Amino acid sequence: MLPKDISDKELYKIMDSFTYALGEHCNYCHGNPKDENTKRTDFAADVNPNKDIARVMMKMVGNINNNLLNDARAINSHIGKIECVTCHRGSAHIDKLEDVLYESYKKDGLDSALKKYGDLKQQYYGSFTFDFRDHTLLSFASKVIEDGKTDDAIKITNKAVELFPESTSAYSFLGNIYMKGGNNELAIKNFEKAVQLDPRNRFANEILRRLKNSEK
Ligand code: HEC
Ligand code: HEC
Repeated sequence: MLPKDISDKELYKIMDSFTYALGEHCNYCHGNPKDENTKRTDFAADVNPNKDIARVMMKMVGNINNNLLNDARAINSHIGKIECVTCHRGSAHIDKLEDVLYESYKKDGLDSALKKYGDLKQQYYGSFTFDFRDHTLLSFASKVIEDGKTDDAIKITNKAVELFPESTSAYSFLGNIYMKGGNNELAIKNFEKAVQLDPRNRFANEILRRLKNSEK
């Protein structure tokens, strides 16, 4: 893939960009075929499937930059380039946080998923790998609602409220769950909180008005 006469400096710049993009070490793709016991890596060897995947990725990136984006550049010359990091953002696996949490939930239950959230936050908060804002927990809760697990969705949304006490979205979301469950009292309480935090929240104001009318 790379030119045979590439300088060491160029080669290592590319390899460093790979480790940075994926948040992994050299041996995520390299390995030693000859002697598993020696510590030395044989970089030219093809013994690690991730190296083969990386080649496919290099081909894909080249194709996007040189073909597809060129077509876009014909329309707007300011169109830039993609790199490994554009998609990978510091992780070999590029699932969104809500998907990682949902997978953990399906496999091991709610406590594990919420613990995972804490662990990932510890590890990645402040980086660009995962989005830890309120809407991620709400998306996770939405998936759980689709499974019909309303009680778990309420727990997840309560977690969002606890972590983001200023989030009108979290209170509205909770209000919505209670409203759909026919619990108008708690629905009103949460929509009132949402409106209190953001008086211009039209959606929450409107629902609140309707809920209060139906109470009369
Ligand atoms: C994401 C996978 C990946 C990571 C991580 C990675 N490499 Fe590579 N590396 C490759 C691939 C793929 C090639 C072969 C490219 C080609 O086919 O031209 C390669 C080639 C090389 C080569 C040239 C080998 C030869 O054929 O002579 C060296 C040296 C090398 N890598 C060193 C490193 C070092 C040092 C690191 C860590 C800083 C590293 N690589 C991290 C995928 C990776
Ligand atoms: C357009 C988006 C995109 C770009 C750009 C991209 N990748 Fe990927 N890459 C993916 C997706 C999607 C996967 C599958 C991830 C998964 O299923 O967890 C993946 C998986 C991988 C894997 C396998 C990880 C595993 O263990 O499953 C490697 C290695 C990898 N990419 C290396 C690279 C390298 C090196 C580059 C830059 C040359 C690159 N990728 C650029 C989207 C991209």
